[in-house]
Amino acid sequence: VRLLRPDKIGARNDICFKYMNVFNSLGSNYSGKEAIQILLSPNNKANSEKLIKLLQERYSGKAILCYKGREALMMALQAVQLPFGSYVAINGFTCIAVYQAIVSQGLKVEYLDIDDGLNFSPDSLEKALKKNLKIKAVIIQNTLGYTCDVEAIIGICRKHDLILIEDLAHSVGLKYDNGQEAGTVGDFIALSFSQDKMIDAVSGGALIIRNRKYDSYNSESLQTVSQYKQIIDMFYPFFTFIIRKTYRLGIGKIAHFMLKKLNLLSKPIEIGNGKIHSLPSWYCVNVIRKFKDLAVNIEHRKRIVRIYSQKLNKKILNNAAYLRFPIMAKDRTGLISYLNKKGIYISDSWYDAPIAPKKFINLTDYKGQCPYAEKITNEIVNIPTHRNVSEIEAELIAKEINIWKKSV
Ligand SMILES: Cc1ncc(COP(=O)(O)O)c(C=O)c1O
Repeated sequence: VRLLRPDKIGARNDICFKYMNVFNSLGSNYSGKEAIQILLSPNNKANSEKLIKLLQERYSGKAILCYKGREALMMALQAVQLPFGSYVAINGFTCIAVYQAIVSQGLKVEYLDIDDGLNFSPDSLEKALKKNLKIKAVIIQNTLGYTCDVEAIIGICRKHDLILIEDLAHSVGLKYDNGQEAGTVGDFIALSFSQDKMIDAVSGGALIIRNRKYDSYNSESLQTVSQYKQIIDMFYPFFTFIIRKTYRLGIGKIAHFMLKKLNLLSKPIEIGNGKIHSLPSWYCVNVIRKFKDLAVNIEHRKRIVRIYSQKLNKKILNNAAYLRFPIMAKDRTGLISYLNKKGIYISDSWYDAPIAPKKFINLTDYKGQCPYAEKITNEIVNIPTHRNVSEIEAELIAKEINIWKKSV
């Protein structure tokens, strides 16, 4: 196979590679140049102010920066001061970080099962509200860039006087069906700039308070992110770049194993300590650059999504620019290992449990409330749409999936 790869997002394919070498994650949102830029990021306070201004203008609210998306969710819940023991309704197909943000505030979680659109339906929210009068807030998340039925959900929130939080970890820049941009309808917006998110600056987050009623909220004094953690984050794009480039030679595999063992590779999902941290300024430079690149990045994702959709015969939503392209396979493990042999490394599917990752589900109080999500988690396979997948690679990935499908 002769493969071509774009040097920059959206550029034509110009460098030849002999083999496919594509990952879902492992720093795939950065180029080599960016890995160096991140290592050299200036730690200048002016960049924090610049980012706050950018966010306030884009989302029309008061912005507070923090170290993780989950911390933004925690601050949103602190700002509203719901009575102790109130419930927050969430998508029953999400990340443990969302669950933890809620329970850390003395609140409880109402799990809403999803449908084929990977989000809960307005109907399931209505049903939950009939049974549980203590639901006071709702988090929507536009899973993987699949838009939720936002108009109906807004209607329900108004009717029942619920706080609406838009979690944009997967959906910065996404347009809802009514043409409004994600992040322009909620009382609060929680942004995550962590690894593999739509805006990926290794780590970072922000709360936007859009409902003026809560404007007076000021986060408690924020903790400092340790120097050690910052250095690990700073090296993540560089280390993962080396790993990806040398994976097929075997060196990358060993380096990956060693760096993980030595705890030198920043982890996307760690169990938090329930504290909120300020965001050091050097992360802000990279977040700002990612916002500048967003439109090009989204265009690239759209092109890749169109290829997958045509070749795999899978309908997509209007304007879809999915963070990852989900397909279903009854023999998920079989497909993942087949692709692995072809140099397509996509074992980290979002999500492998209704509250993912599976290895942490016993830390939650989830008790089978979301049977449809469970079925999806057994079958879902994500294929990548990020900047490090060229159009030709996308065609070849789809081709391999079709070959595998015929063989089973
Ligand atoms: C929907 C969603 N929201 C929030 C988060 C948490 O983001 P962070 O890791 O920045 O806390 C995740 C993490 O994967 C997520 O999937």
